[in-house]
Amino acid sequence: MATMSAIAMTVVVGGTMHPDTPIPRHPGVSPRRRSLTSTPGSAPLLTIAPPETCAPADGPADGRIAESRVPVVDVAVLESSHADAATRKALRRLWDRAFGDRFDDIAANHAYGGVHVLVRDGGHLIGHASAVPRLIRFGDQPWRTVGYVEAVATDPDRQGEGVGRLAMERLHEEIASRWVAALLSTGRATGFYELFGWQRWLGPTYTQTRAGVVLDGHEGLMVFSCDRSVALDRTVAVTCQDRPGDVW
Ligand SMILES: CC(C)(COP(=O)(O)OP(=O)(O)OC[C@H]1O[C@@H](n2cnc3c(N)ncnc32)[C@H](O)[C@@H]1OP(=O)(O)O)[C@@H](O)C(=O)NCCC(=O)NCCS
Repeated sequence: MATMSAIAMTVVVGGTMHPDTPIPRHPGVSPRRRSLTSTPGSAPLLTIAPPETCAPADGPADGRIAESRVPVVDVAVLESSHADAATRKALRRLWDRAFGDRFDDIAANHAYGGVHVLVRDGGHLIGHASAVPRLIRFGDQPWRTVGYVEAVATDPDRQGEGVGRLAMERLHEEIASRWVAALLSTGRATGFYELFGWQRWLGPTYTQTRAGVVLDGHEGLMVFSCDRSVALDRTVAVTCQDRPGDVW
């Protein structure tokens, strides 16, 4: 697991971010090839541009970029505590569009309290994934804090373009710098997460409530191990702490 200094290197430290923040342009760089790094103190943006939508790498003779032909995708990391009102509004709109009536205020609250990855095109929010700390008990081990992935969404108009992959790959870097493992719950997107190394949880699931520990029989729990030296037994019982809305 990485140290706190490594976290500082990968987390944007530019403070709050607005969805309409101007975006620097780096045409001709593939989102799947460009390494995802950020510089502490720099603008809170990593900018990448799909080559098929960019101006030619050699560009106009005078070096200008053909503005009208350059939809630019950027990936940014944002702590929940730095999410301003405009960002929260844009996020809620994205979630409502992606999840429809499966999403509500409680689900939105679950997405905050940790770290977000925002994917934007021309300042317009088109993708999101976040991870929040949660206390989890594996088998009869002591409670430990793991990352819990929430509100992974791509705008319906932009699904199938690699936006979700971009968000998850960047989120994995954040997860790996903070926790040894992460969990999430999904129904329809199991295959999506399996592409990135997530595995189905095989053991029974429980919730720690005020009345005690109760078997909740949740299906759709998945786990991601960030540290290959830590063996995770996916067949043991796993327990979360109760919360409003969906406990998992
Ligand atoms: C699931 C979701 C985030 C995927 O986002 P996306 O931007 O369309 O995904 P990408 O284009 O990056 O796809 C990456 C890969 O995942 C695959 N994939 C996408 N959705 C998938 C799904 N539901 N099941 C299995 N595979 C899926 C794609 O085929 C692609 O595979 P490839 O790289 O081999 O071609 C998006 O469909 C979404 O927002 N759905 C509604 C909200 C939702 O259900 N979120 C998940 C909650 S747990």
